[in-house]
Amino acid sequence: PIVALILAGGTGTRLYPASRSDRPKQFLSFGGEESLLAETVGRVGFADETYVLTRESFADGVRERVPNAAVLTEPEPKDTGPALAYAAHRIREQVGDCVLLCLPSDHRISGPFETVTRTAARVAVETEGLVTVGIEPDRPATGYGYIKPGESENGFAPVETFHEKPDRETATEYVREGFYWNAGLFAWTPTALLSAAASSPLASMVERLDEDADAAFGAVDPVSVDYAVLEDAENAFVVPAALDWDDLGSWDAFERVLDSRDGNAVLGEAVTIDANGNVLASDGHVSAVGVDDLVIASFDDRTLVVPKDEAQRVREVVAELRDDG
Ligand code: GDD
Ligand code: MG
Repeated sequence: PIVALILAGGTGTRLYPASRSDRPKQFLSFGGEESLLAETVGRVGFADETYVLTRESFADGVRERVPNAAVLTEPEPKDTGPALAYAAHRIREQVGDCVLLCLPSDHRISGPFETVTRTAARVAVETEGLVTVGIEPDRPATGYGYIKPGESENGFAPVETFHEKPDRETATEYVREGFYWNAGLFAWTPTALLSAAASSPLASMVERLDEDADAAFGAVDPVSVDYAVLEDAENAFVVPAALDWDDLGSWDAFERVLDSRDGNAVLGEAVTIDANGNVLASDGHVSAVGVDDLVIASFDDRTLVVPKDEAQRVREVVAELRDDG
């Protein structure tokens, strides 16, 4: 069977103040009809079973938004590496042999999603490997993993190298050399992931899963699956995909997904006068006069203003707020 495993334990820090600790990015709709999480669950309607993997504090919010999916909670947030290994173990216990289609819950995707992910699932069974989906890049983004494909046949290729989040210069080089972006969509059997993880920083956790899965999880350091497993994997493959795909990672991304209104990307209501290239996002009304290339985001009683090309730095605000309790 094909089991969809939706990752919904991140917070989406860089979309503050729309995202907050009790209202992560995947719970938001960003102008669409339903939450990104519900869209994700809808997109994998063809799977035999659907699990949403999340942290305890989001579990009720998940059930409310996607009542038909099974919810799996991890003991504490430790990033995607431990979370995926833990889930592979628990699902193998519950379901037995299957292919896991691991999907982020915070993306905008359109195009032949079912065809692409069914192909990835088939390749995962055929190769017993770790299968990624590759997107052709259109800019040297630094927030993604980059995949160098080997010789391709039958719609997939071995991964020659996988480099998670390179710096700008390296990313520029990779785009020129025809690398793919890692879409963050993976297919593997629980056994394939767990055996790859057994020779990774997750090794000691994986060894102890059978004995006491929660204790094993408690002892491991946080790390993403990209750094922990994929960068060093020897049996990884890539299925190139013509998907219209966006991670919506930070506010500047909204320029790509929203229609331009008088030269600005607007989510919510806005008046703009002599203002261009701004991202204006709010649950109310924003006015911008005589300013260019800013992000102005206002949700609840919180307002953020940052130059668009420094939109990644919103992280610093959230870190500061956390330190203040
Ligand atoms: N259950 C659970 N637990 N889910 C998590 C956790 C966790 O601790 N941390 C993150 N997630 C979820 C997020 O909610 C998101 O849906 C997904 O896992 C990916 O996590 P991100 O934190 O958004 O990863 P990223 O965007 O920095 O990088 C990954 O995705 C890129 C594409 O969007 C990597 O796989 C990159 O290589 C890839 O290019
Ligand atoms: Mg992401």
